[in-house]
Amino acid sequence: MKVAVIGAGYVGSVTGAAFAASGRQVTVIDSDPRKVDRINAGKSPIYEPGLDALIDAAVRRRLLSASDRYDSIREADIVFIAVGTPSRPDGTADLTYVKSAADGIGAAINPDRFTVVVDKSTVPVGTAELVAARIEERSGLAHGKAFAVASNPEFLREGYALEDVFYPDRIVVGTGHPKARRALRKLYGPLLERKAYGVPADVIPQPTEAKAETIYFETDAKSAELIKYVSNAFLAVKISYINEVARLCEAIGADVTDVAAGVGLDSRIGGKFLQVSSGWSGSCFPKDTAELLSASRKYGSELTVVRAAVDSNRGMHEFCVEKIRRRLKSLIGRRVGVLGLTFKPNTDDARQTQASVIIGGLLELGASVSVHDPQGMAMFRTLNPKLEVRYCATGEETADGADAVVLLTHWDDYALLDWQAMRKRMRTPYVLDTRNFLRKKPWSEWGYEYEGIGIGTVRRRR
Ligand code: UGA
Repeated sequence: MKVAVIGAGYVGSVTGAAFAASGRQVTVIDSDPRKVDRINAGKSPIYEPGLDALIDAAVRRRLLSASDRYDSIREADIVFIAVGTPSRPDGTADLTYVKSAADGIGAAINPDRFTVVVDKSTVPVGTAELVAARIEERSGLAHGKAFAVASNPEFLREGYALEDVFYPDRIVVGTGHPKARRALRKLYGPLLERKAYGVPADVIPQPTEAKAETIYFETDAKSAELIKYVSNAFLAVKISYINEVARLCEAIGADVTDVAAGVGLDSRIGGKFLQVSSGWSGSCFPKDTAELLSASRKYGSELTVVRAAVDSNRGMHEFCVEKIRRRLKSLIGRRVGVLGLTFKPNTDDARQTQASVIIGGLLELGASVSVHDPQGMAMFRTLNPKLEVRYCATGEETADGADAVVLLTHWDDYALLDWQAMRKRMRTPYVLDTRNFLRKKPWSEWGYEYEGIGIGTVRRRR
C-alpha cells in the first residue's frame, strides 16, 4: 500500500512516519526544501520527542522519503492532506493551503487507479466536499468514481504525538464510499492491531498509561469534521471551568487540586484536563474554538458555552497578571522573570501562547520582563518581535533582580532549578506557579512567598 502525505508539519510528519513504521511505503510532500532534506536525512522537521529516531528508522528501511514534488500522488493508494489551517482575523479557518493541496492532487492524480484523498488537517465542516470539487475541476475526473475524499481528523497532542498516533483512543473515519472505507480500514489495520511494525520495536514508545483497545469509528465526512472541533472545544470548556473554579477556591479558601481530584473520580467526568493553568493556548484550541464559534454563528446556532469558555480563558490570562500586580502593589519599575513560553511542556511550539498575552500585560503595567524556555525561545522571539523582553540562557537567570518569578509552563526542567540559589538573586522572593506544579517544594523554609492558583499562599518564614 502506498501513501502520500502532503505537509511535513506536526501532523504530516508524525502521521507519515507512523504509517511507514506500520510497513507502508510513504512519501511526505512539502514545498519547504529544508523540511524535505531533513526527512531524507533521517531527521525530524519539527521538535517532537522520539520523532527523530522513528523517522531515521523508517528512512533507513526505505519506507519513508520526502519530496517537494507531487509525482508520488500518481502511485499512491491514499493521499493525506495534512497542511496548516491557520485562523483568519475573523476566527474562520484559512483554507489556502488545503485548496492548493487539492489542486496539486487534481493535477497529479492517476486516472487509471482509484485514489482515496483524506483530510487529516483540522478543517471546517464541508471541506471534504470542497476538496472533491477542486480535484474534479483540475483533473476532469468524477468524485466517487476515480477518487473519493474522506475526513480522518487527527487527535495528536504535541509532545505526546507518538504515543497518540500508536495508541489512539479512537480513529474517526468519515466517508460513505465503500472503496474508501475498505482502503482506510486496511491502512489502519496494523496500527489497530499494534503489531507488524516496519521499524525496530524500541523506536515505538511505550504508552505512559494503560491504553484500552482503539475504537475504529466510521461516519459521514461532515460528522467526522465536526467531531474534531467539538472534541477540542469540549476540552477547552473543561479547562476553563476548572480554572474558574480555581479562582472561586481562592476566594473561599478551598483547594482546587483536591476539588479537581474529587470531581474527576466520577467516571462520567474523568480526571483528565482538570489541571489548573494560566489558560489554555497553543496552535489548536484558540483556532479551533474560534472556527467552531464562527461556524455555529454562520448556521444560526451559536455555541454560547464555547463563547463563554473563550472569554473566561482570556480572563484567566488577565487574572494571572492581576495576581502579580496585587502582590507587588505596582508593576512600575518592577522586574518579573517568566519561566515557560510554550503552551505546554515538551514542545517548541510558541504559537498563540498565553505567555505572549501575560508578558504583554506585565510590560503594559510598567514591569521589565526576563524570560526563559527550554525549547521555545527561538519561535517565541520570531513571533513576538514587539515584546521587549530579556531572553535568558538559563531558568535561574530569570531570577536576577526579580520581584517575582512566574511559572507558566510546567517543564520538568523547572522542578530541577536551583531555587535556593535563585532566592538570593531575587529582590523580592515571590513565586507565582500558575500550574501548581512546584507546590511540594519547601518554599517557606527557603524564604519564599509562594502562590499557586486556587491553592492558597505559602508565606515565607521570617
Ligand atoms: C490538542 C488536543 O488535546 C489534541 O487531541 C488535538 O489533536 C490537538 O489539540 C489538535 O487539534 O491538533 P494540543 O494542542 O497539542 O492538543 O495540547 P493539549 O495537551 O490538549 O493542551 C492544550 C492546552 O490546554 C495547553 O495550553 C495546555 O497547557 C492546556 N491544559 C491542558 C490545561 O491548562 N489544563 C489541562 O488539564 C490540560
